[in-house]
Amino acid sequence: QRAGRLAGRKVLVTAGPTHEPIDPVRYIANRSSGRQGFAIAAAAAEEGADVVLVSGPVSLADPPGVNVVRVETAREMMAAVESALPVDAAVMTAAVADWRTEADSGHKIKKDGSGRPPALVLVENPDILATLGHHPSARPKLLVGFAAETDDLIANARAKLDRKGCDWIVANDVNPETGNMGGAFNTVRIVSRAGIEEWPRLAKEDVARRLVGRIADHFAGA
Ligand code: C5P
Repeated sequence: QRAGRLAGRKVLVTAGPTHEPIDPVRYIANRSSGRQGFAIAAAAAEEGADVVLVSGPVSLADPPGVNVVRVETAREMMAAVESALPVDAAVMTAAVADWRTEADSGHKIKKDGSGRPPALVLVENPDILATLGHHPSARPKLLVGFAAETDDLIANARAKLDRKGCDWIVANDVNPETGNMGGAFNTVRIVSRAGIEEWPRLAKEDVARRLVGRIADHFAGA
């Protein structure tokens, strides 16, 4: 048994981008580095939690004491998350691709000489956070989503709380001038049904420690 305020609690974290294959050599991806999610997993483990970190492709080492499951696609992430249930808390930081190609070509798509580019037909990926938020039997006791937005941060975060059935949304401004996406710092607001809390610009490790502290407060009934 570990010591710490989250000892005996199971915490699930998702992190990183997903890669959605177009053909064997190409994929659709995004700029998520995974840093915020890895920092949260590390901080939860330091606080004594039993942590499962499900991550898309990133160039970060496993945090000490964390059970890391590495996946590539959104559908693989969904399956790994389902197998981690039930959990006390889930913190979903992954930048899951909203769409995947309808069919992974299986062979490298070549230029056909016609000058016309191939059409990529996209279909929607599962929404992992919403699936947990509306889970019939294993909804996490505390479900935290992230919302990376460039516009209308708070309105979008509030809408997401309801639509995805989560308890808190950590809203972060990813306008390019903030350097938040992929960078070492983050400026976040915690949006819940109780209101909005603004946090100062902090190193992602400090955002992680504060958030884990809030999660521990929640379970302590504070
Ligand atoms: O709707 P949007 O993608 O902005 O929502 C972001 C939140 O939803 C994040 O917590 C993200 O991890 C989660 N999400 C998810 N599965 C998706 C899309 C988003 O878990 N397919």
